[in-house]
Amino acid sequence: MVFAVVLAGGMGSRMGNSDTPKQYLELGGQPIIIHTIEKFFVNEKFEHVIVLTPESWVAHTLNMIKKSMGNTDRVSVIPGGDTRNDTLYNAIKFVEERYGIDDDTILVTHDAVRPFVTHRIIEENIEAARKYGACDTVVPATDTIVESLDGEIISSIPDRATLFQGQTPQSFNAKKLRDLYLSLTKEEKENLTDACKIFAMKGETVHLVEGEVSNIKITYPFDLKVAATMLKGDIDK
Ligand code: CTP
Repeated sequence: MVFAVVLAGGMGSRMGNSDTPKQYLELGGQPIIIHTIEKFFVNEKFEHVIVLTPESWVAHTLNMIKKSMGNTDRVSVIPGGDTRNDTLYNAIKFVEERYGIDDDTILVTHDAVRPFVTHRIIEENIEAARKYGACDTVVPATDTIVESLDGEIISSIPDRATLFQGQTPQSFNAKKLRDLYLSLTKEEKENLTDACKIFAMKGETVHLVEGEVSNIKITYPFDLKVAATMLKGDIDK
């Protein structure tokens, strides 16, 4: 079984001092999170779409889903956790308790604030997670990446040809992800902020899926302006 996991448990602090987490801000007449959920809801390969939000936003999110998608039992909204990994782990627990996890259970995990994910990216994620056990969606780095360990001087400038920028979805064989997560020490859990990094650090293969420059993450107010322009069709996606 394949499950979509929409990660919406964050507070969007870089978006500014708003009481509304950024995934609930309006984009072209509906909340960003609804655009994102729809991308997964319409794909029939997903047995179920699991949306994880801050606890106080669960009921509100369910109402929004009902309003735009009607009554459906294919979407669940549950509380996320304190960190993105904790949120992801809540999704694993949900799948395990409700459906059980076997060798063919796949999780396609996606940031709620990347509403422009495409059908192709989602399909390739499902395929790569089935084939390789884990995959990350990336685009080649366009800027030169400069490393500085102290924030003052350059430590190194890695060869750009070998560098990619990580997007989402990140997709996993659920059993592998659960077992790796449970094997982490408390310290490792704090440092491994990215689920693909958990795989890579433990010597597991993570396959690359080609992303899109348009698969932007809405992080700052400027990104929301770009997203609104993209949606209007003024920028070719
Ligand atoms: N996320 C999550 N659970 C958390 C933290 C983040 O599900 N505890 C989700 C966010 O809701 C978002 C995605 O992970 O959809 C990407 O994270 P980011 O853009 O960093 O979101 P925030 O943590 O909300 O942003 P900020 O760091 O500005 O507070």
